[in-house]
Amino acid sequence: MVDMALWLRVLVLVACLFPASVESMVRHYKFNVVMKNTTRLCSEKPIVTVNGRFPGPTLVAREDDTVLVKVVNHVKYNVSIHWYMVAASPFMDAPIAVDNVTATATLHYSGTLASTTTTLTVPPAQNATPVATSFTDALRSLNSIKYPARVPLEIDHSLFFTIGLGVNPCASCVNGSRVVADINNVTFVMPTIALLQAHFFNIKGVFTDDFPGNPPTPFNYTGTQPKNFQTVSGTKLYRLAYNSTVQLVLQDTGMLTPENHPIHLHGFNFFEVGRGMGNFNPKRDPKKFNLVDPVERNTIGVPAGGWTAIRFIADNPGVWFMHCHLEVHTTWGLKMAFVVDNGEGPNESVLPPPPDLPEC
Ligand SMILES: *[C@@H]1O[C@H](CO)[C@@H](O)[C@H](O)[C@H]1NC(C)=O
Ligand SMILES: *[C@@H]1O[C@H](CO)[C@@H](O)[C@H](O)[C@H]1NC(C)=O
Ligand SMILES: *[C@@H]1O[C@H](CO)[C@@H](O)[C@H](O)[C@H]1NC(C)=O
Ligand SMILES: *[C@@H]1O[C@H](CO)[C@@H](O)[C@H](O)[C@H]1NC(C)=O
Ligand SMILES: *[C@@H]1O[C@H](CO)[C@@H](O)[C@H](O)[C@H]1NC(C)=O
Ligand SMILES: *[C@@H]1O[C@H](CO)[C@@H](O)[C@H](O)[C@H]1NC(C)=O
Ligand SMILES: *[C@@H]1O[C@H](CO)[C@@H](O)[C@H](O)[C@H]1NC(C)=O
Ligand SMILES: *[C@@H]1O[C@H](CO)[C@@H](O)[C@H](O)[C@H]1NC(C)=O
Repeated sequence: MVDMALWLRVLVLVACLFPASVESMVRHYKFNVVMKNTTRLCSEKPIVTVNGRFPGPTLVAREDDTVLVKVVNHVKYNVSIHWYMVAASPFMDAPIAVDNVTATATLHYSGTLASTTTTLTVPPAQNATPVATSFTDALRSLNSIKYPARVPLEIDHSLFFTIGLGVNPCASCVNGSRVVADINNVTFVMPTIALLQAHFFNIKGVFTDDFPGNPPTPFNYTGTQPKNFQTVSGTKLYRLAYNSTVQLVLQDTGMLTPENHPIHLHGFNFFEVGRGMGNFNPKRDPKKFNLVDPVERNTIGVPAGGWTAIRFIADNPGVWFMHCHLEVHTTWGLKMAFVVDNGEGPNESVLPPPPDLPEC
């Protein structure tokens, strides 16, 4: 059996709903890593779980508590456990201040030698942003003959997308409103028929291809917030001809709160040609773009209160999501999709669905 890199995700919820005066305590948890038969994509298959659950269980703790987790691996694979730390309000429908105190953990493995020393890590300072920025600024692609950086130089679509949060009415919510997220003021609504299916079979009424290439109402994105936080909800896509070239500037907004959004594009690698703080300046900033050896990626951080410019060639026909990889923002609507039309002949066209595509 091939060795598998298995990641078990565990959510640690630091509850803020209790008064801070409550005394801290030690909470014990036991994780049994076991196989469990689970139905996914219409068929039953065994998957690795914690206590029979995937994703793993949620650990609840108060600030200052000590959490002891005993992990016993009952499966034949080596596993890594990945911890998510979330400071959460009981309602989770509003952005809240995240506790800035670093959580620390000690991992103790049974069966190690008594002489094994404990390795302490030194977490970076809270304000190490300049260190992180100078590190990422120094990154370059190889741009060698073997690994050329084919940055598009002629641009067919010059797009400018604002990304951020908003507030929409919600009759069933506690305050009659809920926090949403948007790109160019569009909060994406997931369709019930898959976008690729609707595109391939030409099913009408699933999506429209009128996603705005620019903000409908320009404002000072990193200055004073507009008073109206409302967005438009819709299943809007942006249409690209096969092989067209795209420059996309992703601009964070200060709507509710500026935030670093890791934006992931499906279907393509892109080059990060520029990045900066504040508002993107279409006259000044493109002069500083790196079109020679920029990094090539498929996920890019848009700095809080800043912008990132990317370029790619739409040479992969189909429907491709672009979304924030803070998963909760994706569920709030911080996503859109590109529909890339077929080129000429089968080599430049989307393949039909496989005959065994599950129908459920
Ligand atoms: C999963 O199902 C298969 C086939 O029904 C069975 O042989 C196997 O023992 C089950 N595994 C677990 C962990 O329940
Ligand atoms: C699991 O990790 C141990 C220690 O690194 C290694 O010796 C062993 O071969 C690994 N087992 C598998 C199945 O990969
Ligand atoms: C955490 O935030 C509080 C309140 O904003 C501040 O007083 C404190 O210095 C911060 N601590 C660290 C480690 O950044
Ligand atoms: C929502 O309602 C709660 C309870 O009435 C209140 O404490 C809170 O400030 C409200 N939040 C907003 C954003 O209006
Ligand atoms: C936008 O807001 C920022 C911060 O308040 C300010 O420094 C800047 O001058 C504003 N830009 C414009 C064009 O108004
Ligand atoms: C977003 O759309 C809503 C609804 O049409 C509108 O009220 C709001 O002003 C728009 N905001 C921006 C920033 O375009
Ligand atoms: C795609 O566009 C590039 C120029 O950007 C061109 O060199 C190439 O021939 C085009 N390929 C196809 C299949 O149209
Ligand atoms: C399609 O691609 C294959 C493999 O690259 C190539 O052999 C074939 O000639 C191409 N066909 C057309 C019509 O371009």
